[in-house]
Amino acid sequence: MHRRRDHGGLVFIDLRDSTGLVQVVFHPEEAPEAFNVAERFRAEWVAQITGAVRPRPEGTANPNLDTGDVEVLASDAVVLNVAKTPPFDVSQDAPVDELLRMRYRYLDLRRPFMRENLRMRHRVVKFIRDYLDERSFVEIETPILIKSTPEGARDFLVPSRIHQGSFYALPQSPQQLKQLLMVAGTDRYFQIARCFRDEDPRADRLPEFTQLDLEMAFVDHNDIIALMSGLYTELIQAVRPDKRVPLPVPHFTYEEAMARFGSDKPDIRFGLELADFSSIVANSEFKVFSGVVASGGAVRGFAAPGLASIPRRQADELVELAKRYGARGLVTIALDESAGSLDALTLDHVRTPARALSIDEIKAMAAACGAAPGDLILIVAGEEPQSSSTLGQLRLHMGERLGLTDPDTIALCVISDFPLFEWSENEKRWDSVHHPFTAPFDDHWDRMETDPGSMIAKAYDLAANGYELAGGSIRIHQREKQEAVFRTLGHSPENVEAQFGHLLEAFEYGAPPHGGFAGGIDRLVMLLSDSAESIRDTIAFPKTQVGADPLFGAPSPVDEAQLDQLGLALAPRSPEPETR
Ligand code: AMO
Repeated sequence: MHRRRDHGGLVFIDLRDSTGLVQVVFHPEEAPEAFNVAERFRAEWVAQITGAVRPRPEGTANPNLDTGDVEVLASDAVVLNVAKTPPFDVSQDAPVDELLRMRYRYLDLRRPFMRENLRMRHRVVKFIRDYLDERSFVEIETPILIKSTPEGARDFLVPSRIHQGSFYALPQSPQQLKQLLMVAGTDRYFQIARCFRDEDPRADRLPEFTQLDLEMAFVDHNDIIALMSGLYTELIQAVRPDKRVPLPVPHFTYEEAMARFGSDKPDIRFGLELADFSSIVANSEFKVFSGVVASGGAVRGFAAPGLASIPRRQADELVELAKRYGARGLVTIALDESAGSLDALTLDHVRTPARALSIDEIKAMAAACGAAPGDLILIVAGEEPQSSSTLGQLRLHMGERLGLTDPDTIALCVISDFPLFEWSENEKRWDSVHHPFTAPFDDHWDRMETDPGSMIAKAYDLAANGYELAGGSIRIHQREKQEAVFRTLGHSPENVEAQFGHLLEAFEYGAPPHGGFAGGIDRLVMLLSDSAESIRDTIAFPKTQVGADPLFGAPSPVDEAQLDQLGLALAPRSPEPETR
C-alpha cells in the first residue's frame, strides 16, 4: 500500500510493486467485503487484490503516472501482512537523514529513486558484460582472500585460524591477479570485481566498492584507450539515451589538462580555460607576480564572463575560497563594461587590488585568457602543483556559479602521459603515480638512474564531468625492469622478493606484453543517475561515511571464543570513532 484515500464513499489505494504504482478502487456496493478490508489498509501493508483493469472514468486520468489511464476495480482483497508506520515516508523521494536511511535500508530501497538507481546499476553491468562478451573477453573471478601487498591504500586484514598469527588481505584491486592471468595465456579478461581499501570514505570514495576490471595481452596504450572510450561512450548512450555525449572523446596529455583546466579529471562541459600570464608579468612592478615568476612559480588565471560588477563582499569570498583551496591568495581584476572594447580599456575601467599592474599588462592578460570588458579575471600566483589545483577548483566553482555545468551533458575525456613517479616529500623517496606495475614509454627507461621524475608512463584515465571514471596502464612484463622500478621506489631486494616474488617469477615464464584498466561502477552509476546524491545511493547496502553498517551494526565486537580460535587478544581500546 503506497497511499490510501477515502473519497466520495469509495476507497482508493495506490498499490505499489517493483514496477511502479496502479490505482485500485473499492466500491462499497459492488464488493462490500473487499471494501471492508480496504478500509483498514495502512501505508506499507502487503495485500493481494483481485479485480478488473478498466479505463479511468472520463476526466480522471493521471498523466503523471505510467498507469494513469487505467485503474483496477477490486472484487476481492486479502491482507498478507500488516506494517508498522515507517520511520520516514517511503512514498516520496524527500530528503531523509542518511543514518536513518541506512538503519532501515530495506525501507529506503522501496523509495522510487533508489529502486531506479539499482535498476540502472543492473543495466550498466549487463551492458558491460554483453559488450565485452561480444569482443571475446572472458569473465574470471579472482580470490577475495589474498596476500597483503602494498598497492597504495591500507589493506583490510583477515586473521587466519589455521595459520595462527598470519593474515589474509582483502584485495585493493585484482591488479596482480589479472596480470598473472595474462601470463596464464588468457588474453582478454574482465571481472566485475569487489575492491577493498581501508581509507576514510569521502563523497566519491568507499572502503568497499566495485570495479569493472579489465586486462588484455599484446596491446599498447592506444588499443586500451580506444576500447575504454568506446565502451563508456556506447554504455552511456545505451543507458541514458537522453544525455548528450560530445564526440569524438577528447584526449589530453596530463600536462595539457593541468595547463588548461588545472585538473587531471577536468570537467570540459564548459570553457573557462586557464591561461599562463607568467611571461607577461615577469618584470611587473607588481612584485607579488614578478617575485613568484622569479622564484620559478607561475602566474595563471582565467576569465569569468560577466562578473566584473560583483560586489566587493563576493570578491572577498572568492579570495577566501582560493585560500581554502590551498593558494596563498587570489588577485581579481574587474574590467568595467563601459570600456566597450579591450583596445579602449584604460586604468579607469579597471578595479583590482593589484594597483601596480600596468594597463598594458592588464590588456595582455585579458587577451591571453579571452576576457572582455564586463568580465572578471581571477589570478593565482604560486608553485605547482598547488596553484594548478587551486585554479582547477576555482574554475569548477565558477562553472557551477555561472550555470555552465549542463546536467544533460556527459563530457568524457581521456587523460594520458602521466608522470611515472612523483617525489614524496614526506617519505623522501619516489612514489608511483599510478602503481608500481605501470610501464614508462619505451625510450624513457634510460632516465631511471638519472632523472626518474621526467619519465612518462603509459598510463591513462577516463574522466567525465570532473570525476575520474576509470584508469589503467600498460604494465611492465619483464622481471629486470620491474625490479628496477621497485629499486627506484626504495624497496630492498628482500622486501621485493617477499612481497612480489610470485609476480616476478611469473614474468620469467613467458609473460606477454599486456595492459588494462579499471573503472568504478559505483561512480559511473552516480554519474548516470540524476537522483544519486552520493556514491552510496548507487549501492544496495553501503557503508556510512565512517565505514559502518547501521543495519547489521557492523563492525561489531566478537566473542572471546572467536578471538581464541584465531589466537588473537585485543589491545587496550583506542578512542571510539564518531558514530557516523
Ligand atoms: P584505481 O585505483 O585508479 O586503479 O581505481 C580504478 C577506478 O576505481 C574507482 N575507485 C573507487 N571508487 C569508489 N571508491 C573508491 N575508494 C575508489 N577507488 C577507486 C575509480 C577509479 O578510476 N588496478 C588499478 C587499475 C589498473 O591499473 O588496471 C586500479 O585499481 O573510478
